[in-house]
Amino acid sequence: MRVLALAVFLPGLALAQTPDGRAIALHGNGNGALPCAACHGVNGQGNASIGAPRLAGLPAGVIVGALQGFAKGDGGNAMMQNIARGLSAAEMRAVAGYFSGL
Ligand code: HEC
Repeated sequence: MRVLALAVFLPGLALAQTPDGRAIALHGNGNGALPCAACHGVNGQGNASIGAPRLAGLPAGVIVGALQGFAKGDGGNAMMQNIARGLSAAEMRAVAGYFSGL
């Protein structure tokens, strides 16, 4: 029984270590990070009417840096700060890589 539980659990761990940036961008992570696309646009083009900046093509390091800052309460609005706090470091890198490549 214990062996079986491990076998089921380990693939889940492997998945958690390589988050899918596109899935987070489009659907959120189910852990406090709302879908980025809802505000920043499906293609990361931004939405001026709600003040959401363009993310597409930004260097990944700039996106990660902004998210780390927001998570610390450094800049951004309350919504963006909560979203950043809902992302793990690996998820930040994954979602930054996704938008950077658009
Ligand atoms: C509810 C709307 C909303 C959602 C959802 C949202 N954002 Fe934002 N985001 C904003 C707004 C508005 C700003 C501008 C904040 C400010 O400058 O005060 C922003 C700013 C940013 C910035 C800073 C960009 C820059 O050039 O300064 C980054 C990076 C960012 N968001 C990434 C994300 C990521 C990644 C997600 C998904 C995990 C996400 N956002 C989800 C509304 C949102």
